[in-house]
Amino acid sequence: MIDLSCKYLGLQLKNPLVVGSSGLTSSIHNLKTIAQMGAGAVVLKSIFEEQIKFEADKFLKSNNPQIQSWNEAFQGIVSKTEFYYEEAFQYLTDYAKDHTLNNYLSLISEAKKEIPIPVIASINCTTQYDWQYFARRIQEAGADALELNVYLLPSDFEKSGTENEEVYFSIIREVRKFITIPISLKIGYYFSSLAQTALKLSETGIAGLTLFNRPYNPDIDLDNLQVDAKNMFSSESEYSHTLRWVALLSGKVNCDIAASTGIHNHETVIKQLLAGADSVHMVSVFYKNHFDVLPQIVKGMEKWMTDHNFKSISEFKGLLSRKNVHNPAAYERVQFLRLFSSVE
Ligand SMILES: Cc1cc2nc3c(=O)[nH]c(=O)nc-3n(C[C@H](O)[C@H](O)[C@H](O)COP(=O)(O)O)c2cc1C
Repeated sequence: MIDLSCKYLGLQLKNPLVVGSSGLTSSIHNLKTIAQMGAGAVVLKSIFEEQIKFEADKFLKSNNPQIQSWNEAFQGIVSKTEFYYEEAFQYLTDYAKDHTLNNYLSLISEAKKEIPIPVIASINCTTQYDWQYFARRIQEAGADALELNVYLLPSDFEKSGTENEEVYFSIIREVRKFITIPISLKIGYYFSSLAQTALKLSETGIAGLTLFNRPYNPDIDLDNLQVDAKNMFSSESEYSHTLRWVALLSGKVNCDIAASTGIHNHETVIKQLLAGADSVHMVSVFYKNHFDVLPQIVKGMEKWMTDHNFKSISEFKGLLSRKNVHNPAAYERVQFLRLFSSVE
């Protein structure tokens, strides 16, 4: 008997396959399909920090008698509105009409009733100001854990690396004041010292790090002379950057690691587990092939484990992490003289 079960963020999962945060995880219909198709857990589509502030502001401007009690409960912290990105305000004015905070909370509680797998909520945030009280409401709605998606592009010439990094730490500090459910932090890779920062982040009390968010990258439309976004979905060859960092950090950081980006098939899932990942988050593959690939990935994993005489994930997880391989330099080499010189 092959046992794919594992622990992630302290939660018991029947397998390490997590459907990552995206539009695919924003309806109860899809969440039921995801569970039926055999996922181990799901991360809901992120609610945006700006959305929370916007709703809070709207609420404060209404004549609702609850306002007083809210302000007392949260010591007035919902009374300020500060938008980190100006354009977010424009976008949210329209968006929030359809997607209210209550819809998000209902999605969590309905998901908890309807599906038997852990439900991880998600907040997309870039500041530590004024929105963390909503994390408590997420917990009260029944979420099993909360993923904080923090993606700061260090493009501000006035800000040092330390200042940028402090944002991550202060967000965690603030959110931890409001909730007791496990927190995972989803990050990008723009850190001057990723290994040390990841280690320090893992010591803040978070339960997991998700490596990495995949940003929308700009492109230039040569016909219309406009800046555009391209390649919304990852390709199946994009997994190696994550693989390197999972291998380098696993066994070193004091929290779980989830691998994300470019994981499209059972082979890549197994590679990330061998590198030391505790779970894998997949998104693009489901946009391309729908959730039918989930049972195929489970089957592929079981076959590979049978062929290699592994009965459980713990027997091979981390077997090829940096600390367990004979040649750790293989993960660190970025300029490979012998390889490059052999190509003419
Ligand atoms: C259409 C789309 C929407 C996404 N929305 C979110 C989101 O709301 N929150 C989040 O943390 N990540 C979001 N992501 C990022 C994914 O969760 C994931 O980190 C990224 O796509 C890399 O994984 P993949 O290679 O399996 O697609 C989104 C990705 C896509 C393609």
